[in-house]
Amino acid sequence: MRSGRTILAALPRPQPRGIPTIDSTRTVFWADDAVQMIDQRLLPARCEVIALRSVDAVADAIRTMAVRGAPAIGAAAAYGMALAARASAGRASAGHDSSERASTRASTAHPSQSAAGDDIARLRTDLDRAAATLIAARPTASNLAWAVHRLLAAFERSGGGDAYAVAAALLAEAEVIADADIATNRRMGAYGAALLPDVATVLHHCNTGALATVDYGTALGVVRAAHEGGKRVHVIVDETRPRLQGAKLTCWELDRLGIPHTLIVDGAAAWRMAQGGIDAVLVGADRIAANGDAANKIGTYGLAILARHHGVPFYVVAPTSTVDLQTPGGEAIVIEERDGDEVTHVEGHAVAPEGTPAFNPAFDVTPQSLISAIVTEEGVVRPPFAAGLRDAVANAGARDHGSAASLARAATPSGASTGAMSAPPREATAA
Ligand code: MRU
Repeated sequence: MRSGRTILAALPRPQPRGIPTIDSTRTVFWADDAVQMIDQRLLPARCEVIALRSVDAVADAIRTMAVRGAPAIGAAAAYGMALAARASAGRASAGHDSSERASTRASTAHPSQSAAGDDIARLRTDLDRAAATLIAARPTASNLAWAVHRLLAAFERSGGGDAYAVAAALLAEAEVIADADIATNRRMGAYGAALLPDVATVLHHCNTGALATVDYGTALGVVRAAHEGGKRVHVIVDETRPRLQGAKLTCWELDRLGIPHTLIVDGAAAWRMAQGGIDAVLVGADRIAANGDAANKIGTYGLAILARHHGVPFYVVAPTSTVDLQTPGGEAIVIEERDGDEVTHVEGHAVAPEGTPAFNPAFDVTPQSLISAIVTEEGVVRPPFAAGLRDAVANAGARDHGSAASLARAATPSGASTGAMSAPPREATAA
């Protein structure tokens, strides 16, 4: 077992097929003064929760993909910031006893006030260090930096004072982010489900389900909402080399949800589309530029080209926390490159001669011209995407009235809307 981690408990056994729930356990949550998460590296063989008690352990879990999926790593990073604040407050109170004793001996004025000021200054330094560590863990997903900046904004709003109270405020903000993620996913699910016919076959890449989020999922949330709403959905699951999120995670989730699915190798997608009967390609995103270009798991771009060639709608499903209005287009998105061993090895077994050079970009960018629609929690955005995405981010900022950070992200030079967003379906407003 790695240091800083304890395996807490095995999760309950799988539900019987057909019950539309994964587990009562969220993918990422806070309990027992620790960040808890399902260790996705072990699935589908074992479903276990690990407890992380330091920022470095959380950053390591993000880097090594114990937690993965843009919204899930955002939530993990938010809790990581809360951990940093609590550790800083704990150190401050340990230091206080001795410094206040020394202050009392020297009879200085208001020793506890100046000590509190020092604590807050140290807390800010500790938070900045934690923010840099967490943001560096994986570069492509916007949600990570978005969540970290929300926690920094919560610190600014707290106005200083007692370090413990500030740490409590930061944990509360992380809980808001986690809770909001689920509500957001349900809204996207309702919007996206309305795009599918009553009997639908969809092709899906990577894993965008409950495991990629705090719960419910984005693109797979659409599948789930359609299934729960009585539509008959069959999912063609890309295995998603090199890390096999489709085979390992998406099939595991769909099996538990009782949603019919068929696993294919990535190379079979073109041939499967040529056979006909695919109603939509549904994918998530890690970062969506202001013009609609979308970074997602490597292989997504190829699917978008295939979908265009075969006349299949290509839908990107992602929350506004994935939309990065500061990045004008896909060429400015930083694409994470991972170790070539992930390509030359499968499950630790070499599948290429030793020393074979490998290129392993974790993501690619799908140009907006190949995207039929982007489904957000604020509605379905149609091309041209720029104005609709700005509106979606602004609406999310207005909904999220506690968050100055989100409102700042929504600020744009023109703010003009082309009305490119569709009106919300009834289920979405109710969610
Ligand atoms: O490398 P991963 O597994 O973190 O990549 C995940 C994806 O590419 C998902 O499609 C994306 O994060 C959206 S998940 C809701």
